[in-house]
Amino acid sequence: MFYGMRPEEKEYVISWSQQNNVQVKTTAELLTADTVEQAQGADGIVALQTQAYPKEVFDKMSQMGIKSLSLRNVGTDNVDKEAAKANNIRISNVPAYSPNAIAEFAVSSMMQLLRQTRKVIQYVEDGELKEAVALVGKELSAQTIGVVGTGRIGKRVVDILQGMGAKVVAYDPAFHQPGIDYVDDLNDLLKQSDVLTLHLPGMPATEHLINEKNISLMKPSAYLVNAARGMIVETRALINALKERRLAGAALDTFENEDELGKAMAQGHDNQDSDYQTLKSMDNVILTPHIAYHTDIAVHNMVHQSLDSAYQFSQGQNPENEVKF
Ligand code: NAD
Ligand code: COI
Repeated sequence: MFYGMRPEEKEYVISWSQQNNVQVKTTAELLTADTVEQAQGADGIVALQTQAYPKEVFDKMSQMGIKSLSLRNVGTDNVDKEAAKANNIRISNVPAYSPNAIAEFAVSSMMQLLRQTRKVIQYVEDGELKEAVALVGKELSAQTIGVVGTGRIGKRVVDILQGMGAKVVAYDPAFHQPGIDYVDDLNDLLKQSDVLTLHLPGMPATEHLINEKNISLMKPSAYLVNAARGMIVETRALINALKERRLAGAALDTFENEDELGKAMAQGHDNQDSDYQTLKSMDNVILTPHIAYHTDIAVHNMVHQSLDSAYQFSQGQNPENEVKF
Protein backbone atom coordinates (compact mmCIF):
# COMPACT_ATOMS: atom_id res chain seq x y z
CA MET A 1 0.00 0.00 0.00
CA PHE A 2 1.60 3.22 -1.25
CA TYR A 3 0.53 6.37 0.64
CA GLY A 4 0.92 10.01 -0.33
CA MET A 5 1.37 9.27 -4.03
CA ARG A 6 2.24 12.34 -6.04
CA PRO A 7 1.52 12.60 -9.79
CA GLU A 8 5.22 12.49 -10.72
CA GLU A 9 5.66 9.19 -8.86
CA LYS A 10 2.98 7.30 -10.78
CA GLU A 11 5.12 6.18 -13.74
CA TYR A 12 7.77 4.78 -11.38
CA VAL A 13 5.17 2.90 -9.31
CA ILE A 14 3.82 1.33 -12.49
CA SER A 15 7.28 0.41 -13.81
CA TRP A 16 8.31 -1.17 -10.47
CA SER A 17 5.05 -3.07 -10.23
CA GLN A 18 5.45 -4.46 -13.76
CA GLN A 19 9.14 -5.31 -13.34
CA ASN A 20 8.50 -7.17 -10.07
CA ASN A 21 5.03 -8.54 -10.76
CA VAL A 22 3.80 -7.16 -7.45
CA GLN A 23 0.49 -5.37 -6.98
CA VAL A 24 0.84 -1.82 -5.58
CA LYS A 25 -2.31 -0.10 -4.33
CA THR A 26 -1.92 3.67 -4.20
CA THR A 27 -3.59 6.65 -2.56
CA ALA A 28 -2.78 10.34 -2.55
CA GLU A 29 -3.74 10.48 1.11
CA LEU A 30 -1.05 10.59 3.78
CA LEU A 31 -0.59 7.82 6.32
CA THR A 32 -2.53 8.74 9.45
CA ALA A 33 -4.53 6.97 12.15
CA ASP A 34 -7.61 7.67 9.98
CA THR A 35 -6.23 6.39 6.67
CA VAL A 36 -4.17 3.40 7.82
CA GLU A 37 -7.17 1.06 7.50
CA GLN A 38 -7.01 1.48 3.71
CA ALA A 39 -3.96 -0.80 3.91
CA GLN A 40 -6.06 -3.77 5.10
CA GLY A 41 -4.74 -6.89 3.37
CA ALA A 42 -1.45 -5.33 2.27
CA ASP A 43 1.92 -6.98 2.96
CA GLY A 44 3.64 -3.66 3.66
CA ILE A 45 3.22 0.10 3.66
CA VAL A 46 5.28 2.66 1.71
CA ALA A 47 4.95 6.35 2.62
CA LEU A 48 6.37 9.83 2.11
CA GLN A 49 5.42 12.79 4.28
CA THR A 50 6.92 15.33 6.66
CA GLN A 51 3.93 14.98 9.00
CA ALA A 52 4.28 12.69 12.01
CA TYR A 53 3.84 8.91 11.92
CA PRO A 54 2.18 8.60 15.35
CA LYS A 55 1.74 5.69 17.76
CA GLU A 56 -1.87 5.07 16.61
CA VAL A 57 -0.61 4.23 13.12
CA PHE A 58 1.75 1.55 14.43
CA ASP A 59 -0.83 0.16 16.87
CA LYS A 60 -3.33 -0.22 14.01
CA MET A 61 -0.73 -1.68 11.61
CA SER A 62 0.06 -4.30 14.19
CA GLN A 63 -3.64 -5.14 14.68
CA MET A 64 -3.96 -5.50 10.88
CA GLY A 65 -0.91 -7.80 10.72
CA ILE A 66 1.20 -5.35 8.67
CA LYS A 67 4.82 -5.64 9.72
CA SER A 68 6.75 -2.97 7.83
CA LEU A 69 6.78 0.71 6.94
CA SER A 70 9.11 1.73 4.10
CA LEU A 71 9.79 5.46 3.89
CA ARG A 72 10.59 6.90 0.48
CA ASN A 73 12.87 9.54 2.03
CA VAL A 74 16.00 9.91 4.20
CA GLY A 75 14.91 11.47 7.50
CA THR A 76 13.21 9.35 10.16
CA ASP A 77 12.64 12.22 12.61
CA ASN A 78 8.83 12.04 12.17
CA VAL A 79 8.58 8.34 13.14
CA ASP A 80 7.43 7.44 16.67
CA LYS A 81 10.31 5.03 17.09
CA GLU A 82 9.21 3.63 20.46
CA ALA A 83 5.77 2.81 19.05
CA ALA A 84 7.26 1.17 15.96
CA LYS A 85 9.54 -0.94 18.16
CA ALA A 86 6.79 -1.83 20.64
CA ASN A 87 4.65 -3.11 17.75
CA ASN A 88 7.55 -4.94 16.05
CA ILE A 89 7.10 -2.84 12.91
CA ARG A 90 10.27 -2.80 10.83
CA ILE A 91 11.24 0.49 9.17
CA SER A 92 13.32 1.24 6.09
CA ASN A 93 14.29 4.50 4.44
CA VAL A 94 16.06 5.48 1.20
CA PRO A 95 19.27 6.98 2.54
CA ALA A 96 20.90 7.93 -0.76
CA TYR A 97 18.24 8.48 -3.41
CA SER A 98 20.29 11.48 -4.57
CA PRO A 99 22.51 13.32 -2.06
CA ASN A 100 23.57 15.38 -5.04
CA ALA A 101 20.03 16.77 -5.50
CA ILE A 102 20.03 18.36 -2.04
CA ALA A 103 23.68 19.43 -2.32
CA GLU A 104 23.14 21.24 -5.63
CA PHE A 105 20.07 22.94 -4.18
CA ALA A 106 21.98 24.13 -1.11
CA VAL A 107 24.80 25.55 -3.23
CA SER A 108 22.31 27.23 -5.54
CA SER A 109 20.63 28.78 -2.45
CA MET A 110 24.01 30.14 -1.31
CA MET A 111 24.57 31.74 -4.70
CA GLN A 112 21.11 33.33 -4.70
CA LEU A 113 21.77 34.82 -1.25
CA LEU A 114 25.20 36.12 -2.22
CA ARG A 115 23.84 37.76 -5.42
CA GLN A 116 20.67 39.03 -3.65
CA THR A 117 18.58 37.33 -6.32
CA ARG A 118 15.28 37.71 -4.47
CA LYS A 119 15.70 41.49 -4.32
CA VAL A 120 16.84 41.72 -7.96
CA ILE A 121 13.79 39.79 -9.18
CA GLN A 122 11.46 41.89 -7.04
CA TYR A 123 12.95 45.16 -8.36
CA VAL A 124 12.68 43.92 -11.95
CA GLU A 125 9.05 42.85 -11.43
CA ASP A 126 8.29 46.28 -9.97
CA GLY A 127 10.02 47.99 -12.91
CA GLU A 128 12.64 49.50 -10.57
CA LEU A 129 15.64 48.73 -12.75
CA LYS A 130 17.86 51.45 -11.30
CA GLU A 131 17.54 49.82 -7.88
CA ALA A 132 18.18 46.36 -9.36
CA VAL A 133 21.46 47.34 -10.99
CA ALA A 134 22.63 49.09 -7.82
CA LEU A 135 22.78 45.80 -5.88
CA VAL A 136 26.32 44.48 -5.51
CA GLY A 137 26.79 40.72 -5.12
CA LYS A 138 29.51 38.60 -3.59
CA GLU A 139 31.43 35.78 -5.28
CA LEU A 140 31.10 32.29 -3.86
CA SER A 141 34.75 31.48 -4.56
CA ALA A 142 35.82 34.34 -2.28
CA GLN A 143 33.78 33.09 0.71
CA THR A 144 34.47 30.80 3.63
CA ILE A 145 31.66 28.25 3.78
CA GLY A 146 30.97 26.41 7.03
CA VAL A 147 29.43 22.96 6.52
CA VAL A 148 27.75 21.35 9.54
CA GLY A 149 27.52 17.59 8.98
CA THR A 150 29.66 15.89 6.34
CA GLY A 151 27.70 12.70 5.67
CA ARG A 152 26.31 11.89 2.23
CA ILE A 153 24.84 15.33 1.48
CA GLY A 154 27.37 17.48 3.33
CA LYS A 155 30.29 15.72 1.61
CA ARG A 156 28.75 16.35 -1.80
CA VAL A 157 28.24 20.03 -0.85
CA VAL A 158 31.93 20.21 0.07
CA ASP A 159 32.96 18.61 -3.24
CA ILE A 160 30.91 21.11 -5.27
CA LEU A 161 32.13 24.10 -3.25
CA GLN A 162 35.77 23.04 -3.46
CA GLY A 163 35.33 22.64 -7.22
CA MET A 164 34.10 26.24 -7.33
CA GLY A 165 37.12 27.50 -5.43
CA ALA A 166 35.48 28.39 -2.11
CA LYS A 167 37.26 27.87 1.20
CA VAL A 168 35.38 25.13 3.04
CA VAL A 169 35.58 24.40 6.76
CA ALA A 170 33.43 21.73 8.41
CA TYR A 171 32.13 20.51 11.75
CA ASP A 172 31.00 16.94 12.34
CA PRO A 173 31.55 15.39 15.77
CA ALA A 174 31.19 11.82 14.49
CA PHE A 175 32.48 11.54 10.96
CA HIS A 176 35.63 13.04 9.45
CA GLN A 177 36.28 12.57 5.74
CA PRO A 178 39.61 12.95 3.98
CA GLY A 179 40.22 16.19 2.06
CA ILE A 180 38.10 18.36 4.40
CA ASP A 181 39.35 20.86 7.01
CA TYR A 182 37.45 20.37 10.27
CA VAL A 183 37.09 22.43 13.42
CA ASP A 184 36.45 20.67 16.74
CA ASP A 185 34.15 23.35 18.06
CA LEU A 186 30.95 24.45 16.32
CA ASN A 187 31.43 27.98 17.70
CA ASP A 188 34.69 28.31 15.74
CA LEU A 189 32.81 27.46 12.56
CA LEU A 190 30.08 30.01 13.30
CA LYS A 191 32.67 32.74 13.89
CA GLN A 192 34.54 32.26 10.62
CA SER A 193 31.78 31.34 8.14
CA ASP A 194 30.49 33.74 5.50
CA VAL A 195 27.82 31.14 4.77
CA LEU A 196 26.78 28.38 7.18
CA THR A 197 25.02 25.37 5.64
CA LEU A 198 23.38 22.57 7.63
CA HIS A 199 23.47 18.89 6.60
CA LEU A 200 22.76 16.84 9.71
CA PRO A 201 19.71 14.93 10.98
CA GLY A 202 16.95 16.43 13.09
CA MET A 203 16.81 14.59 16.43
CA PRO A 204 16.59 15.54 20.10
CA ALA A 205 20.37 16.07 20.28
CA THR A 206 20.36 18.54 17.38
CA GLU A 207 17.22 20.50 18.30
CA HIS A 208 18.09 24.23 18.24
CA LEU A 209 21.75 23.46 17.62
CA ILE A 210 21.72 26.91 16.01
CA ASN A 211 20.20 29.18 18.64
CA GLU A 212 19.99 32.67 20.12
CA LYS A 213 23.31 32.26 21.92
CA ASN A 214 25.48 30.98 19.10
CA ILE A 215 23.88 32.99 16.28
CA SER A 216 25.38 35.98 18.07
CA LEU A 217 28.84 34.58 17.22
CA MET A 218 28.17 34.79 13.48
CA LYS A 219 29.31 37.71 11.35
CA PRO A 220 26.56 40.29 10.63
CA SER A 221 27.44 39.77 6.95
CA ALA A 222 26.90 35.98 7.16
CA TYR A 223 24.12 33.88 5.59
CA LEU A 224 22.45 30.69 6.87
CA VAL A 225 21.24 27.86 4.63
CA ASN A 226 19.01 25.15 6.12
CA ALA A 227 17.99 22.30 3.81
CA ALA A 228 18.27 19.74 6.63
CA ARG A 229 15.51 19.96 9.26
CA GLY A 230 13.66 22.98 10.67
CA MET A 231 14.08 21.91 14.28
CA ILE A 232 17.87 22.39 14.07
CA VAL A 233 17.42 26.18 14.02
CA GLU A 234 15.68 28.20 16.74
CA THR A 235 13.40 30.07 14.36
CA ARG A 236 12.57 33.00 16.67
CA ALA A 237 16.29 33.58 17.29
CA LEU A 238 16.92 33.56 13.55
CA ILE A 239 14.07 36.02 12.93
CA ASN A 240 15.41 38.36 15.64
CA ALA A 241 18.93 38.21 14.24
CA LEU A 242 17.67 38.97 10.72
CA LYS A 243 15.47 41.84 11.94
CA GLU A 244 18.32 43.33 13.95
CA ARG A 245 20.75 42.92 11.03
CA ARG A 246 22.97 40.59 13.07
CA LEU A 247 22.75 38.21 10.08
CA ALA A 248 22.62 39.16 6.40
CA GLY A 249 20.07 36.62 5.23
CA ALA A 250 18.87 33.02 5.14
CA ALA A 251 17.66 30.37 2.73
CA LEU A 252 15.28 27.91 4.37
CA ASP A 253 13.92 24.76 2.73
CA THR A 254 12.83 23.19 6.01
CA PHE A 255 10.88 24.62 8.94
CA GLU A 256 9.92 24.03 12.52
CA ASN A 257 6.27 23.00 12.59
CA GLU A 258 6.18 21.31 9.18
CA ASP A 259 2.84 19.76 10.09
CA GLU A 260 1.34 23.17 9.25
CA LEU A 261 3.28 23.38 5.98
CA GLY A 262 2.11 19.88 5.02
CA LYS A 263 -1.53 20.61 5.83
CA ALA A 264 -1.42 23.86 3.88
CA MET A 265 0.07 22.12 0.84
CA ALA A 266 -2.51 19.32 1.00
CA GLN A 267 -5.33 21.88 1.07
CA GLY A 268 -3.79 24.00 -1.67
CA HIS A 269 -3.37 27.20 0.35
CA ASP A 270 -0.48 29.14 1.88
CA ASN A 271 1.22 28.15 5.13
CA GLN A 272 -0.34 30.36 7.81
CA ASP A 273 2.32 29.61 10.44
CA SER A 274 3.21 33.07 11.79
CA ASP A 275 7.00 32.55 11.84
CA TYR A 276 6.83 31.33 8.24
CA GLN A 277 4.81 34.42 7.27
CA THR A 278 7.33 36.70 9.02
CA LEU A 279 10.23 35.07 7.19
CA LYS A 280 8.32 35.24 3.91
CA SER A 281 7.96 38.99 4.28
CA MET A 282 11.74 39.54 4.53
CA ASP A 283 13.50 40.36 1.27
CA ASN A 284 16.79 38.86 2.45
CA VAL A 285 15.16 35.44 3.06
CA ILE A 286 14.52 32.74 0.47
CA LEU A 287 11.84 30.21 1.41
CA THR A 288 11.19 26.97 -0.42
CA PRO A 289 8.61 24.36 0.68
CA HIS A 290 10.92 21.39 1.41
CA ILE A 291 11.87 20.70 -2.21
CA ALA A 292 15.66 20.45 -2.12
CA TYR A 293 15.38 16.73 -2.89
CA HIS A 294 12.88 17.06 -5.72
CA THR A 295 14.54 15.97 -8.97
CA ASP A 296 13.66 13.33 -11.54
CA ILE A 297 16.56 11.12 -10.45
CA ALA A 298 15.57 11.39 -6.79
CA VAL A 299 11.88 10.60 -7.38
CA HIS A 300 12.72 7.49 -9.44
CA ASN A 301 15.09 6.17 -6.76
CA MET A 302 12.77 7.01 -3.86
CA VAL A 303 9.92 5.02 -5.40
CA HIS A 304 11.89 2.02 -6.64
CA GLN A 305 14.17 1.62 -3.61
CA SER A 306 11.37 1.97 -1.04
CA LEU A 307 9.25 -0.60 -2.90
CA ASP A 308 12.29 -2.94 -3.06
CA SER A 309 12.60 -2.74 0.73
CA ALA A 310 8.86 -3.25 1.29
CA TYR A 311 8.96 -6.34 -0.92
CA GLN A 312 12.04 -7.70 0.86
CA PHE A 313 10.39 -7.23 4.25
CA SER A 314 7.34 -9.13 2.98
CA GLN A 315 9.62 -12.01 1.93
CA GLY A 316 11.19 -12.22 5.39
CA GLN A 317 14.47 -10.76 4.11
CA ASN A 318 16.65 -8.04 5.63
CA PRO A 319 16.66 -5.02 3.31
CA GLU A 320 19.93 -3.12 3.12
CA ASN A 321 18.03 0.07 3.97
CA GLU A 322 16.38 -1.18 7.14
CA VAL A 323 16.71 1.50 9.86
CA LYS A 324 17.76 0.16 13.25
CA PHE A 325 16.93 2.81 15.82
P1 NAD B 1 24.04 11.33 6.72
O1 NAD B 1 23.55 10.44 7.81
O2 NAD B 1 24.76 10.72 5.56
O3 NAD B 1 24.97 12.48 7.33
C1 NAD B 1 24.61 13.22 8.46
C2 NAD B 1 25.90 13.70 9.10
O4 NAD B 1 25.54 14.58 10.18
C3 NAD B 1 26.75 12.57 9.71
O5 NAD B 1 28.06 12.63 9.20
C4 NAD B 1 26.71 12.85 11.20
O6 NAD B 1 27.92 12.50 11.88
C5 NAD B 1 26.49 14.36 11.21
N1 NAD B 1 26.00 14.88 12.49
C6 NAD B 1 25.19 14.29 13.40
N2 NAD B 1 25.02 15.09 14.46
C7 NAD B 1 25.74 16.21 14.21
C8 NAD B 1 25.96 17.40 14.94
N3 NAD B 1 25.42 17.62 16.16
N4 NAD B 1 26.76 18.34 14.40
C9 NAD B 1 27.31 18.16 13.16
N5 NAD B 1 27.14 17.04 12.43
C10 NAD B 1 26.36 16.08 12.96
O7 NAD B 1 22.75 12.12 6.23
P2 NAD B 1 22.57 12.89 4.85
O8 NAD B 1 22.09 11.95 3.81
O9 NAD B 1 23.76 13.69 4.58
O10 NAD B 1 21.32 13.81 5.22
C11 NAD B 1 21.40 14.82 6.19
C12 NAD B 1 20.02 15.34 6.50
O11 NAD B 1 19.51 16.07 5.39
C13 NAD B 1 18.96 14.25 6.70
O12 NAD B 1 19.00 13.72 8.02
C14 NAD B 1 17.68 14.99 6.44
O13 NAD B 1 17.20 15.53 7.63
C15 NAD B 1 18.10 16.12 5.51
N6 NAD B 1 17.51 15.98 4.16
C16 NAD B 1 16.83 17.03 3.65
C17 NAD B 1 16.27 16.93 2.37
C18 NAD B 1 15.50 18.07 1.75
O14 NAD B 1 14.82 17.85 0.73
N7 NAD B 1 15.54 19.27 2.28
C19 NAD B 1 16.40 15.75 1.64
C20 NAD B 1 17.14 14.71 2.19
C21 NAD B 1 17.69 14.82 3.45
C1 COI C 1 14.25 13.49 3.24
O1 COI C 1 14.45 12.67 2.34
O2 COI C 1 14.58 13.28 4.43
C2 COI C 1 13.58 14.75 2.93
O3 COI C 1 13.75 15.70 3.67
C3 COI C 1 12.70 14.81 1.73
C4 COI C 1 11.25 15.06 2.10
C5 COI C 1 10.34 14.85 0.94
C6 COI C 1 10.76 14.29 3.29
